[in-house]
Amino acid sequence: MSYLATLNDEQRAAVVAPLGPVLVRAGAGSGKTRVLTYRIAYLIERSARPDSILAVTFTNKAASELRTRLKTLLGKAGRGVAAGTFHAICAKILRTNIGGRIGNYTANFTIYAGDEQLQIVQSALDAYTGSVPQIMEAPEMLGHISRFKSRMQAPTVARRTASDPVQQYAAAIYRSYQKTLERANALDFDDMIGLTYRLLFEHPDVLDAVQSRWHHVLVDEYQDTDAAQYALLELLTRPVAGRARSLFAVGDAQQSIYGFRNADYTIINRFTRDFSAATVVELATNYRSRQEILDAAYAVIRHSRAVPPMVLRASRRAPPVPALVIHEAADDRAEAEEIAKSVGALLAAGRRARDVAVLY
Ligand SMILES: Nc1ncnc2c1ncn2[C@@H]1O[C@H](COP(=O)(O)OP(=O)(O)OP(=O)(O)O)[C@@H](O)[C@H]1O
Ligand SMILES: [Mg+2]
Repeated sequence: MSYLATLNDEQRAAVVAPLGPVLVRAGAGSGKTRVLTYRIAYLIERSARPDSILAVTFTNKAASELRTRLKTLLGKAGRGVAAGTFHAICAKILRTNIGGRIGNYTANFTIYAGDEQLQIVQSALDAYTGSVPQIMEAPEMLGHISRFKSRMQAPTVARRTASDPVQQYAAAIYRSYQKTLERANALDFDDMIGLTYRLLFEHPDVLDAVQSRWHHVLVDEYQDTDAAQYALLELLTRPVAGRARSLFAVGDAQQSIYGFRNADYTIINRFTRDFSAATVVELATNYRSRQEILDAAYAVIRHSRAVPPMVLRASRRAPPVPALVIHEAADDRAEAEEIAKSVGALLAAGRRARDVAVLY
């Protein structure tokens, strides 16, 4: 239990929270990933088998950070823990189970991305014979298709619920796009989530097999999940046959940067409503930045109407030099000159150019 001593009180409360749904709401740099990896160590110590633990996140970068940190913390004891992106985990589930269960898909399906998707959309646009309410390039149309999918709408549902001619047009192209994919035994990234959900939902034997394998599901960067991934998590951890829902999610609504990819930060607020008896822990100590920086960041985000921001306190002591200087310039030219002058002064004082960044 010695590792628990390196956590602050809030972090420790999250790590040792009772089994069940646990939401860790926290700010940037407050130790969310640390808490998640320690929770895994705690579960193993409490005799969970490593291969009964699944840790998922949204991006490859976050997934590889998670794997590295698990290795450092657990070494051999962590062997068998599954840690990966939603898409990687879903690809595994699909390869093993999709054959003979969904349409004509087989285990060696192909994954289409980028240009391949755009080509299919373009062919569907070219072949469309109905009236076109608005000229749309393939990338924009693909955005519509991806939105339908992230809301888990099949082409028929998309067509039925289309509220205007543009939506109807998009739903028609979606239908043709999807047909081409299925004929080619191909999935796109959105399908990997959507079809995994369908597979688990429509085939209780598969759900049972997957649930029997992974009793504990942990999610890092939870604010970046979209509606489809949320539905999948709910299903994966749905209590059946007396099992408890062991779902541990850590996230920060202020850091949701995947809105353009249909991520839905309101999912954080739905957690306690949807999962009864959830434990919620807030982490408000920041280990990365000085208090001045945190206060300045808060002054900006406190105007967010979408999510009430969290006030963070820094664990670091006051700096010997001011961490933040605000300079008001008369116009953008004067602003640029001031920045150039400050950078020049830093370089003259011996700072390396690679340590300086300009954001605007
Ligand atoms: N209790 C603690 N004592 C000392 N250092 C800590 C503590 N908790 C976290 N840290 C350090 O703070 C840094 C941020 O931790 P971590 O990456 O886990 O935070 P995070 O909330 O996941 O960050 P992000 O918002 O970037 O995802 C790390 O360097 C970590 O080692
Ligand atoms: Mg993190």
